[in-house]
Amino acid sequence: MSWTPASWRERPARQMPSYPDLGALAQVESRLASAAPLARVADIRRLSGLIAEASAGRAFLLQGGDCAESFAEFGANKVRTVFNLLLEMAAMLSADGGREVVTVARIAGQFAKPRSAATETVGEITLPAYRGDIVNGAAFDPLSRTPDPERMLQAHRQSKVTIELLHAFSAAAYADLGAIRLSAQARLGLGSERGRWGEEAPQPRVFTSHEALLLHYEQALTRWDEESESWWATSGHMLWLGDRTRQIDGAHVEYASGVSNPIGLKCGPSLSADELLRLIDRLDPDNRPGRLVLIGRFGAKAAADHLPALMRATRQAGSQALWAIDPMHGNTVTAGGFKTRFLGDIVAEMTRFFDIADSQGVHAGGVHLELTGDDVTECLGGSLPLCEADLPRRYLTHCDPRLNETQALDLAAEAARLMRRRTRPASHAA
Ligand code: PEP
Ligand code: CO
Repeated sequence: MSWTPASWRERPARQMPSYPDLGALAQVESRLASAAPLARVADIRRLSGLIAEASAGRAFLLQGGDCAESFAEFGANKVRTVFNLLLEMAAMLSADGGREVVTVARIAGQFAKPRSAATETVGEITLPAYRGDIVNGAAFDPLSRTPDPERMLQAHRQSKVTIELLHAFSAAAYADLGAIRLSAQARLGLGSERGRWGEEAPQPRVFTSHEALLLHYEQALTRWDEESESWWATSGHMLWLGDRTRQIDGAHVEYASGVSNPIGLKCGPSLSADELLRLIDRLDPDNRPGRLVLIGRFGAKAAADHLPALMRATRQAGSQALWAIDPMHGNTVTAGGFKTRFLGDIVAEMTRFFDIADSQGVHAGGVHLELTGDDVTECLGGSLPLCEADLPRRYLTHCDPRLNETQALDLAAEAARLMRRRTRPASHAA
């Protein structure tokens, strides 16, 4: 069977909504199919080139943003705060490290969520699970929970505005780059003479990414490019496959195998080394640098049980895929009735990732985070320490708990330290 943007439909598809009105769905799909692309092929290729630099050990991938974007909380201010936070973190990661940081936000398309159960029951009532604003509404009533294809159009409109905002903030940040760098140096406790950024300041730009979960939406935004003679997902620069939808014969892997974008693959504790190598063959048969990002997500304790074998396998196979770590999704716990994560566990998994990569002779190439520039109380710990009693104060997430600004900057300082130890001559090692 040859690949087409629709060939995923021949495969078993997990985590997909069941739309009651197929006529309405077809109408929405055809409107999206004639919409302008959200991501340009030239920019996607640029990102691919930067990820290839990272797999060669010369760059580092910083990926982060909300667990799920929402329609209700959208606004220029929200986009600005996360943009600024990512830029500040990137400046910290590149200070004194000599490595370019490639910044990719979970934004402008990160609306669909995988769920552990297809339905939710409250008392006597069972309704479809909330699958993210692009599918249905979070309120527990039959109307809200009915999958509505019109929501894909709203997600697309919001993504378009988000991208316009990112462009505007990027232009403004270019003028402020000196100040951003000074602030990053101050946060790291480095003197102003210590920064080693190149003379040519790269344009501060943030690429977009999301989980390729809702395949109706992805298919409708897939475009053929004459110049490269290949298919591209134009819903975002980079897409990833979630840990629950990476079945080798499943619909999501089928879709991702045929588009040329950089693809992330979440690698959780249930993934064996054999399965990983088969997925790499399927998603990256040409072993093209910049194509595949393997995103480990095991939990601070389990990382040491799983990651060494997976890294050994990719190194022995000579894969050019970039290794990154998502230290969020394996570290979720419940405290005081809230889903939360301890910053200490998050930093511990990231640190183990760097150590294991060193011992396996693999480049520790990136970090994938859930964070927000807003002042939330969703994760515990940090330099302005949040404790369990703080959680109800500003627990705003629709989905998973995010690092707030302070916690994200604390984590970036740790990551910068880990990177610095690896790039400085041994005599200067901290
Ligand atoms: C996510 O990144 O929001 C997510 C659901 O992750 P995973 O697929 O790794 O569980
Ligand atoms: Co999440």
